Amino acid sequence: MMTKMYFFLLICHAASSAKHSLVYRTISYTGVSNFPEFQAVKLVSNVKVAYCDNNIMTTVITEDWMKKYMEDHPDILQLHNKRCIFSYMTFGRIIDDVIHSLNLTEDAHVFQSLISCEWETQIREMNCFGQLGFDGKDFLTYDLNTKKLCVSVPRFHKHKIPDYDQKDYSFTVDNLVPYLLKEYVEYANSSLPKTEFLSVSLLQTSPSSPVTCHATGFYPHRAVMFWRKDGEEVHEGVEHGEILPNNDGTFQMSVDLNVSSITPEDWGRFDCVFQLADEKNDIVTRLDTAVIRTNGIRYDRGSRVVVGLLLLIFCIVGLVIWRRKNTMTQQWVQGLVTR
Ligand SMILES: *[C@@H]1O[C@H](CO)[C@@H](O)[C@H](O)[C@H]1NC(C)=O
Ligand SMILES: *[C@@H]1O[C@H](CO)[C@@H](O)[C@H](O)[C@H]1NC(C)=O
Ligand SMILES: *[C@@H]1O[C@H](CO)[C@@H](O)[C@H](O)[C@H]1NC(C)=O
Repeated sequence: MMTKMYFFLLICHAASSAKHSLVYRTISYTGVSNFPEFQAVKLVSNVKVAYCDNNIMTTVITEDWMKKYMEDHPDILQLHNKRCIFSYMTFGRIIDDVIHSLNLTEDAHVFQSLISCEWETQIREMNCFGQLGFDGKDFLTYDLNTKKLCVSVPRFHKHKIPDYDQKDYSFTVDNLVPYLLKEYVEYANSSLPKTEFLSVSLLQTSPSSPVTCHATGFYPHRAVMFWRKDGEEVHEGVEHGEILPNNDGTFQMSVDLNVSSITPEDWGRFDCVFQLADEKNDIVTRLDTAVIRTNGIRYDRGSRVVVGLLLLIFCIVGLVIWRRKNTMTQQWVQGLVTR
């Protein structure tokens, strides 16, 4: 069931804000034991999709859609593997350089790098930046105009960045990361399930059966759904269903609420909440007989009363007929006897 997922961020945001991001973060330590000396993570629209460190020295992909993308693009995967090792070595060397050029002690130091690009699909605008920190403080900032890494604090002014580091950094921020971000957005748009038919509905098979809150057509399958009373989650009488796949790659799920002990006046205090992964907007559906779908029949509390009355009438009519038949039989039997 752990099939393609989580690309929804790209899809959903394509529908709403149409803003996507790709972030590479690395952290390098010196003089700290029990720690990998280098770790890198890659985030797409704030979701971690891959990481590497100097122990594994290879890219570990944590999201299925990215695995699929890398299967389709082995060259990009290879590039990531190479850059993991490359960044580990480069940043290690930069730390050494800084320590020596600034005459720092050789104890614990931490070096962080951040490259981030944001892509706004509607206006086709790409905004990137790059920043490096040393011991938790700004150290270098990438100047987008001069295409140079600049020392951003006087303390580090003595430090010189070698040309080859400058060139590589410039290539990464100006070309590589924007290229990959566009690739991912396009890939999401063309190869992952579309969620435009996402719907949440309330279903009930009979007036006494539980009300099922059912969501379908969502993607990825990282979603939660629950019932609330007066805005507070309820657990009693609630039964959570599994998340199941649909044929089109989207998912469905449902949560039942036992309504047998809920008085008609209290129905309006309940609602069903559907939350899809990192989407900001929940889908809230009020427990309302008017929106409940049944197997072709629509009924509400009013018609339940009607059904009750009808049953009562049937009983009375039945009883009357039976009594009349009974009297007729009695009369007929009496007639036989007295004949
Ligand atoms: C570096 O530190 C050592 C000892 O603390 C000192 O003797 C030396 O002058 C310093 N060098 C520079 C370039 O600051
Ligand atoms: C997604 O695909 C549709 C058509 O399939 C296209 O019109 C749209 O521009 C694409 N969006 C992105 C962000 O590539
Ligand atoms: C609903 O709750 C009632 C008691 O409140 C219980 O008797 C009944 O079995 C429950 N129904 C279901 C379908 O769990």
